[in-house]
Amino acid sequence: MTEDLRTSELVARPDGTGFPAAEVAAAVAGDGFARLGAEHFPVDPEGGDFARFRETWEDLELDGALVDGGCYRYRRYGRLRAVRTADGISLSALPHAAFRQDGIPMWRGDERMFAPIRPAALADACLHALVTADLAAADLVRTSPEWTVGLHLIRIIALDGETGLPTPEGRHRDGHAFVGMHLLRRENSAGGVSTVYRDGRPDVRFTLESPLDSVLVDDTAVWHEVSPIAVRDRAGGRAVRDMLLVDINPS
Ligand SMILES: [Fe+2]
Repeated sequence: MTEDLRTSELVARPDGTGFPAAEVAAAVAGDGFARLGAEHFPVDPEGGDFARFRETWEDLELDGALVDGGCYRYRRYGRLRAVRTADGISLSALPHAAFRQDGIPMWRGDERMFAPIRPAALADACLHALVTADLAAADLVRTSPEWTVGLHLIRIIALDGETGLPTPEGRHRDGHAFVGMHLLRRENSAGGVSTVYRDGRPDVRFTLESPLDSVLVDDTAVWHEVSPIAVRDRAGGRAVRDMLLVDINPS
């Protein structure tokens, strides 16, 4: 129990409102997932730090590995090591590496090498706050002294008359222990409806609309999918959906 309190305290807001790690963990353990919003995280979505963090998504590179040949996904990838210490959770950068998802048929055997997240972004305080919050809850569901965290900065774009696919894999599991999914930006977008599929239980559908709308899934318990996005207002230009995905695995 002491360790539970430490991880919660680590992500406490300056005003003393802590990230509700125990409640989030209970939802993930019981339902297979938890939905979260900006109010849950120690990050101010209106603040300058968050605005600077979101600028990182203006500097992504085209994902040329899409099997449908599409040019609608931009991304960077990075990794962190997370170690539980007496003071909470310590994060440090891991060397860049290829990304494999052998559990997903369309990516089986592929060593996908994405552009690395730049060091400044990998050390960003907003990033660390979100990752630490995800870890605090995940660690209460299935504890581990050490975690490997994969980070995906992803932008999906849809031009007028086209669609962008947030999950070209369709309904899938990513092959991780847990996955945190955080919305950074959604502009002029229709669609992008998330579905969580649970064996023997009703599907759950929702749309991440506002910055830091999030979902944390137990990737061993549920499947997920996000529908295509399209331009909502032709006068508004392209549709954009920016996400931070946090892959969490015990080391
Ligand atoms: Fe996924």
